[in-house]
Amino acid sequence: MLKHFLYSPGPTPVPEEVLLEMANPLIHHRTPQFFKIIQENFELLQYIFQTKNPVITITSSGTGAMEASVTNFLSPKDKAIVLSAGKFGERFAEICRAYNINVIEIKAPYGMDVKAEELEKALKQNPDTKAVFTEYSETSTGVAFDIKSIAKVVKNTEAILVVDGISAIGAMEFKMDEWAIDVALAGSQKAFMIPPGLSFISFSEKAKKMMEKSTLPKYYFNLTKEKESLEKNTTAWTPAISLFIALNSALKLMKKEGLESITKRHALIAEACRKAVQSIGLSILPVVPAVKPSDTLTAVKVPAGIDGLKIPSLMRDKYGVTIAGGQESLKGKIFRLGHLGYFGISDIIIELQAMELALKELGYKFDYGKSVFTAQKVIEEHLL
Ligand SMILES: Cc1ncc(COP(=O)(O)O)c(C=O)c1O
Repeated sequence: MLKHFLYSPGPTPVPEEVLLEMANPLIHHRTPQFFKIIQENFELLQYIFQTKNPVITITSSGTGAMEASVTNFLSPKDKAIVLSAGKFGERFAEICRAYNINVIEIKAPYGMDVKAEELEKALKQNPDTKAVFTEYSETSTGVAFDIKSIAKVVKNTEAILVVDGISAIGAMEFKMDEWAIDVALAGSQKAFMIPPGLSFISFSEKAKKMMEKSTLPKYYFNLTKEKESLEKNTTAWTPAISLFIALNSALKLMKKEGLESITKRHALIAEACRKAVQSIGLSILPVVPAVKPSDTLTAVKVPAGIDGLKIPSLMRDKYGVTIAGGQESLKGKIFRLGHLGYFGISDIIIELQAMELALKELGYKFDYGKSVFTAQKVIEEHLL
């Protein structure tokens, strides 16, 4: 028997009590029973996003929320600045181009971020910019963008700031209202501890004003319609009912733990993971101290002479531990250790020991057991 552990940076493990909720007989979505679920979810999502703004739940994966953040606030030929240093930043640019938006892409190499100062310069040169799109945690590289500084720059302009927080919100510190974020996106299969299929999008008053003027085509992802429905505790279309119910259960677990504790848990485990891999001679992304790593995953560089594609498959097939490989230009060059959502201090030990077994088998020479020991030391120092 091979016991399985899902440690990718999404989808992430689902707690047993949440799984059981989805096993109950299906209910209809136009019923008082389901209206109550929507209302509770809405209030709990506002808590997670730290906002008084509406938070819409869409039946789609995260990319649907990304697309909605373009089509609902912009009009054809509008100018948008996209900060991109990885696959998901590039996706924002691709969606914008698909909708005939005039895109200015500020690109940084994979493993880096785009600094607020660069954005400030670009905004000064392009005062007619309508929106700035950025990642918070760029899942393809394990880098965290400095959203607070970026938001300070955008705040004093006409543009709205759209933040893809899909692999960050609910795990890393995020204060939508205090930081002046206009549009924030999140996804169910990440910190929210439920399967893929729901995405979340919240928007500020500044964004709402742009929404009222937006003329890009939209139908399924129509946030005006969804907002009106939400005010009646319902949804525009048939929602993924079982996922809404699972979300209700997961959000209550998150509320019970509390945002501060959730953030601290992710930060501690991330630190343990980073120090652990470095203790056996591995390097991580980002490579420079001026760029911060994400606390929800660790992108580890494949050591020279090792077949990078084999690390995730060996960990999964022989040791039952699913992680993620590199994407696009980083394919075979990094592997990504997820530590996100329903992920406790003992999970990182399981993940690291499977990584060590795989690396040893593939011929990497290191002090066997040291990464596990290092992670234990970090955890011990923080907990005692
Ligand atoms: C930061 C980020 N943005 C966007 C997406 C796309 O979301 P989805 O795959 O749910 O459509 C992901 C998914 O991995 C992500 O991590």
